[in-house]
Amino acid sequence: MKRHMGEPFPNVRTDDAGHDVVRVELAERSYDVLIGDGLLSEVGPLTAEAVSGRRAFVVMDEHLPEHVMHTVLNSLESAGFGTTLTVVHPTEANKTLDTVDRLLHEIAETAHERRDPVIALGGGIVGDIAGFAGAVYRRGVPVIQCPTTLLSMVDASVGGKTGANLMSRTGLRKNLVGAFWQPSLVLADTGVLESLPERHLRSGLAECLKHALIAGSTPLALDPADAMFRWTNEILLKVRMGDAELLRRLVSRSVALKAAVVAGDEREEAPSSEGGRAILNLGHTFAHAIETIPHLSPDGRSESSPLHHGEAVALGLVCAGACAVHLGLLDEESLRRIRVAVERLGLESHLIGLPPDEELIDRMRHDKKVLSGRLRLVLPTAIGEAVVVEDPVRESIFAGWKAIRAGR
Ligand code: GLY
Repeated sequence: MKRHMGEPFPNVRTDDAGHDVVRVELAERSYDVLIGDGLLSEVGPLTAEAVSGRRAFVVMDEHLPEHVMHTVLNSLESAGFGTTLTVVHPTEANKTLDTVDRLLHEIAETAHERRDPVIALGGGIVGDIAGFAGAVYRRGVPVIQCPTTLLSMVDASVGGKTGANLMSRTGLRKNLVGAFWQPSLVLADTGVLESLPERHLRSGLAECLKHALIAGSTPLALDPADAMFRWTNEILLKVRMGDAELLRRLVSRSVALKAAVVAGDEREEAPSSEGGRAILNLGHTFAHAIETIPHLSPDGRSESSPLHHGEAVALGLVCAGACAVHLGLLDEESLRRIRVAVERLGLESHLIGLPPDEELIDRMRHDKKVLSGRLRLVLPTAIGEAVVVEDPVRESIFAGWKAIRAGR
């Protein structure tokens, strides 16, 4: 069934407190994602409703302000939880099994039992490693995700992907180790986004743009397919200027879209012909190839390197568009619209210092999404529609890289 953008999304409701609630429908692993201002001060009672244990192990991003930590701990303790807090330095280089090992030892020291929750408080890196520790401690304890960046609210905290990077001979291999472990609850307190640095906001908006670019190919089947893209474009500047209500709506819609995709293909097992969860990887195989190159930066200045995930995704969206044009899947005008949207986010659509094509293609082959040795790229076929393409010809991939390559 096709759905118009003006209609309420079927998996979103509003609760008595006025928060948006997105249901991730996964049979006995179903859970709610709550979205709204001030949710962190309710983490205690909401966690108490979601789990039966009363000892909470909180893993916090070291950059979060102290008042956020106090809000969360006070709320948990008032709701009857014993709490332990540990702090994580959230870099890709620190997203390792060593860090997970440290967390596991600390959890074990608190006599944490099977029904006691691990609470992840931070961005995607904290969510991934705390979620992974929760997935493997005693073969799995409840995890509550409290994302504090836009990127983690609309992507990493929803869908149960947890894990760590592996350092190999060829460099850092992102998320090579991990587990699907659905959280018991996700609390996206959009109030914390008010103090999010501009660069992080733009980075998160890139994932929202990606969702808009696949909206017609998801189970939500928005019609026309470019409706979410047009709406996102319309509100982008206001969101960047600080319109909190529009930002909350954008988060809700993005989460609803991701929840519908995850509900349809929880473990990314659908065949390429159906798309499934893999469709969420639009732009990501290109992005992963460049975000682990330490010297690359969005503005060519070494002090802003490496690229943030969302910055790499935005560039990856342009690459995917150009690759699709070369393959005859997409028209030039749609590619232009993608590039303009990326620039409207305040992000670069060109990059200085890209390695040669051969090296880039090698890096793409290391991506987890390679299946039976075949590279699987998600490519746009129109604004709002995308397909999974297996092993596109090298020239088309090179055309993708050429579209963002800036000289110097
Ligand atoms: N970030 C892509 C996914 O969750 O599948």
